[in-house]
Amino acid sequence: GISGDMKGMNLMITAGPTIEPIDPVRYITNFSSGKTGYSLATAAAKRGANVTIVSGPVAVDAPEGVTVVPVRTAREMRDAVAEVFPMCDLAIFAAAVADLRPENEADHKLKKGLDDAALSTIRLAENPDILSEMGHAKGDQVVVGFAAETHDVVPNARKKLLAKNADMIIANQVGNGLAFGTEGNEIWMVTEDGDEHVPYMLKAELADIVLDKALSLMHGQE
Ligand code: C5P
Repeated sequence: GISGDMKGMNLMITAGPTIEPIDPVRYITNFSSGKTGYSLATAAAKRGANVTIVSGPVAVDAPEGVTVVPVRTAREMRDAVAEVFPMCDLAIFAAAVADLRPENEADHKLKKGLDDAALSTIRLAENPDILSEMGHAKGDQVVVGFAAETHDVVPNARKKLLAKNADMIIANQVGNGLAFGTEGNEIWMVTEDGDEHVPYMLKAELADIVLDKALSLMHGQE
């Protein structure tokens, strides 16, 4: 990345997991660490961008100078994103949004013996697909999503590119200890024009390569 080449640009990044409450003390979530989204935020801030992270609960520190909008659930994330998205030039959806949430959140701690039916059968409802909603609503924004795939990485990423109306999907292979919570990754950058493979490297280095590619898509739009 070239220092200052994102100056004045507004970038929104979703990061981390979402958590979906069952009752006041229990929830459903996933293993997302937030490292990918926060690495992108750090790299973009260094390059001069105004960065807002809409973030699920994570243990990583926010980079200096970056605005963090903390959220818990997918629906909270969607509402926060809907407010920030119209003002941004580039939006990167790196969050691991829970696909499903408990249909009903109990207002009291479910108790063994008293609430056995509710504890043993948690009915699930589908969460909004935030990337897809914004992809289909976008104007001039360049929209980038991620795809974690266990097989047929590039073809599946290409399907997501079309289904969600994104400008680029960053695809990576998962399973066998790859991707979640790791320091590095191997990716494929999938766009309408083709796909580019980037060999395994640290997330901090990948971040600059992803931003370079996103910038080239933004310039291609002008
Ligand atoms: O469909 P899938 O979950 O594999 O798509 C992954 C991409 O979509 C990621 O960029 C993720 O941040 C985004 N996504 C989203 N809202 C969802 C599910 C996924 O923004 N409910």
